[in-house]
Amino acid sequence: MSQEIQPSAQRIWEHCEALARCSEAPDKLTRIFLSREQRAANELTLGWMREAGMHAGLDAIGNCVGRYEGKQPGLPALLLGSHLDTVRDAGKYDGMLGVVAAIECVHTLNQRGKRLPFAIEVVGFADEEGVRFGATLLGSRALAGTFDPGLLNKTDHDGITMREALSRADLDPARIASAAKKREDVLAYAELHIEQGPVLEAEHLPVGVVTAINGANRFVVEIGGMAGHAGTVPMNLRQDALAAAAECVLAIEKRCGSVPELVGTVGSIEVQPGATNVIPGKAVFTIDIRSPRDAERLAAAADVKVAIQSICERRRVTASIKQSHEGKTATCAPWLMEQIGEAIAAENLPVRQLSSGAGHDGMAIIELTDIGMLFVRCKGGISHNPAEAIMLEDAQISSRVFLRFIENFKPVRSRH
Ligand code: HGY
Ligand code: MN
Ligand code: MN
Repeated sequence: MSQEIQPSAQRIWEHCEALARCSEAPDKLTRIFLSREQRAANELTLGWMREAGMHAGLDAIGNCVGRYEGKQPGLPALLLGSHLDTVRDAGKYDGMLGVVAAIECVHTLNQRGKRLPFAIEVVGFADEEGVRFGATLLGSRALAGTFDPGLLNKTDHDGITMREALSRADLDPARIASAAKKREDVLAYAELHIEQGPVLEAEHLPVGVVTAINGANRFVVEIGGMAGHAGTVPMNLRQDALAAAAECVLAIEKRCGSVPELVGTVGSIEVQPGATNVIPGKAVFTIDIRSPRDAERLAAAADVKVAIQSICERRRVTASIKQSHEGKTATCAPWLMEQIGEAIAAENLPVRQLSSGAGHDGMAIIELTDIGMLFVRCKGGISHNPAEAIMLEDAQISSRVFLRFIENFKPVRSRH
């Protein structure tokens, strides 16, 4: 075992715990884009970046960006990072582990007094999950230069526009384009992330190399029926928005269960007026459809839309289907997969390649540069759930592998 200073799994663990305390509610980890909680998490993250020897600050959309110079100042950078926002009632590691582990790797290089033939930039993305405004990958799109300013008009649950939320967070919506990195300043992007699935644990492996991030379509469906008295309207005369939505949910489940690796989820549904003795007049639900194969995902999305329309027609209710997100499958660069695999093999571990059913910031960053990902085993494959957990030894192994990848990183002319 090399005597050199190694990344501290304990510090990684403690930093994830500290970030988990930056939450909307003490008992349910929720930290959404531009929230007070996110400001607290950013302060912690920027402080850790500075302690690790980086110049650090917020970019124009609120990403935390830290830079560790190479042998000379101003060299192109290897981008590392993940996201700092969470889903509602989240786990402590989805996103955060990748940010704190990357910082810890730089901290270790700095402790060793080591500078590399390239700079390193660590990014804590401000919004990957899309919880607040229904649009995902906001931070990484801004950094990749693909942010759509039209999104600034999107409103959150309280009717606050993204534009207003940015201003309230002392960020200038008009300057978001300045967050974009120049291609020539970036060598590649690598992200350490929990697998959020059961494969590594089932095969007793601490880490794996990601081959691709599955593409996704997300929709918001609004069903308009007729609210009525639960006691007086005969069943055959109802225009029950919730009953129609329920039939749609089962149709989505059936269609997306028909093909291996295709998945479809209705993650949220809201009903109005929402009273026991009132026939629902309105139902709004979301759909998330994914597959490793784009054609399959698009065919399923098309079939689901047709099914919804026909169910609603038969039930004499209206359906409006709006797409809120589309991301095609993002393929990891073989040369990055190879270098991550070499770092795993150097730790005398088997090199297991696997695709990602979960979305990641790499889906946006691939527009800027080649992407690679290192997966870390998580307990039971559970994620987007407070039961999300990793083992301290896997924080140790994965950060050692990640640091070895960083130290041995050899840029290859990107296809970009
Ligand atoms: O939804 C996802 O796959 C990711 O966690 N944002
Ligand atoms: Mn997530
Ligand atoms: Mn994530």
